[in-house]
Amino acid sequence: MLEKLPDNYVPLLPEVEAFLAQPVMPYIGGAYVAPYSEQTFGTYDPSSGRQLAQVGRAQKEDVNIAVKTAREAFDAGDWWLRMSPADRSKCIWRLAELIEQHAEVLAQLDSLDNGKPLKTTQTDDIPLSAKHLYYYAGWPTKIEGSTIPVSQHTMFNYTLREPVGVVGLIAPWNYPLLMATWKFAPALAAGNCIILKPAEQTPLSALYVAKLTEEAGFPPGVFNVLPGYGEEAGAALVEHRGVDKIGFTGSVEVARKIVQGSVGNLKRVSLELGGKSPNIVFADADLEQAIVGSTWAIFGNNGQSCTAGSRLYIERKVFDQVIAGMQEEVSRIKVGPGMARQQPDLGPVVSDEQLDRVMGYVHEALDQGAQAVTGGSRLFGELQDGYFLEPTLFTGVTDDLRVSREEIFGPVVCAMPFDDVNEIIDRANDTDFGLAAGLWTTDVRKAHNLARALKAGTIWINTWGNTEAASPFGGYKQSGYGREMGKEALDLYTDVKSVWIKTD
Ligand code: NAI
Ligand code: MG
Repeated sequence: MLEKLPDNYVPLLPEVEAFLAQPVMPYIGGAYVAPYSEQTFGTYDPSSGRQLAQVGRAQKEDVNIAVKTAREAFDAGDWWLRMSPADRSKCIWRLAELIEQHAEVLAQLDSLDNGKPLKTTQTDDIPLSAKHLYYYAGWPTKIEGSTIPVSQHTMFNYTLREPVGVVGLIAPWNYPLLMATWKFAPALAAGNCIILKPAEQTPLSALYVAKLTEEAGFPPGVFNVLPGYGEEAGAALVEHRGVDKIGFTGSVEVARKIVQGSVGNLKRVSLELGGKSPNIVFADADLEQAIVGSTWAIFGNNGQSCTAGSRLYIERKVFDQVIAGMQEEVSRIKVGPGMARQQPDLGPVVSDEQLDRVMGYVHEALDQGAQAVTGGSRLFGELQDGYFLEPTLFTGVTDDLRVSREEIFGPVVCAMPFDDVNEIIDRANDTDFGLAAGLWTTDVRKAHNLARALKAGTIWINTWGNTEAASPFGGYKQSGYGREMGKEALDLYTDVKSVWIKTD
């Protein structure tokens, strides 16, 4: 199934070759099983366009089977009732250890599937996925109810926090394993049975991890993975009345469909969506830090981050200086295949569809008079088989253009000058999104005042992009609802039961 990859790639591990040699099947009830239709789809290396593997194409029938399996596992209670919270902790902890043990395999799978540099999946995606599980491994023994001081004096009242049940998790392709882990770690810690649908562009790492759950001690049916297309497997999961909750990360457009699709059984929904995050550089900032930070705020992960700092506002008196600094910083960025022996800093964008979408925005901006200080085109030559783009920094743009209002999800930033604090608060908040915002300043009053004034779920000051399992993450406005990570994520995956006992 695996096509021969270019010669300049890091050699594939034997485990990776073996995994990709056969069609990779959905994982249901503790085993890989062929989909009902017996159909498969291809997954590709965006750096070379070559096929990596065929993958079982889960559809409605497979969703029905997976939901039934997960429901039986949930109702049998092996996972959340019979297995003690301490034992559940151990399973999640062991899964984290197994991910660390198989880190190199998983790093290769995510780099192949997504295109991002191997050095990035080795240092970020995979270790952070393990860390996420270690954090949530601590929670099963700490998910507490309360004793309520009710005023009816012959009554004793307390609450229990129980798992929601069967949970559908729909993940994106930008950090394939990590985004899935953000969802399944808290869902499992809370005692749910999960059905994960990875993005069709990047299904491999989740399917590999599925097998590890067995060795970690998860009862069959607790952890299921259905690879497939959004409109098929994804939509069927959303509409299924046996699914109690959907956790989703992806586009606003699909989020609306998910909300509509969920009405049948009024399942719980949490949404982690896109952004057009404002990044504000004040003249009183440590400019060296701000220049490097703002460059990576947008170009990190090739702009394919929901928190990308894609609207860059620079105080007018330092505008030229900051742009010149960023231009220099960008000139040092190497773009190339994620699996190349000579590791690049950035890989390709994930698909030809994404390439077209991003280039559409770039051409439109150029037509409207934007100046590309860096980039502005696709990369050809040695890189022509992949979906490679130059990191693009636009000036000469205004707040009202599509390129400065819509999420591009690629390496494209719009830099615009501003003159004063009140002006910039209004401009920064004039957006449908509210996932993240950030600012660079050495004035502590300004920092705190803006932290309050900016309408976004995360504010970064003199830094960009930090997240950690312990700290809640999510959006204001159309960037979604619900908070992943931290103890807040447990609220997404539990229901509260109030128990009354008459005591006289
Ligand atoms: P998408 O929203 O279509 O895909 C995300 C996930 O949703 C995938 O697993 C997909 O299979 C699934 N999905 C698609 N249609 C579905 C449906 N009708 N029902 C249920 N599940 C469905 O995102 P896509 O098309 O890959 O990218 C489009 C844009 O979305 C990007 O340019 C970016 O702006 C945004 N996006 C944002 C992400 C984030 O981290 N917030 C991640 C991925 C995309
Ligand atoms: Mg889509």
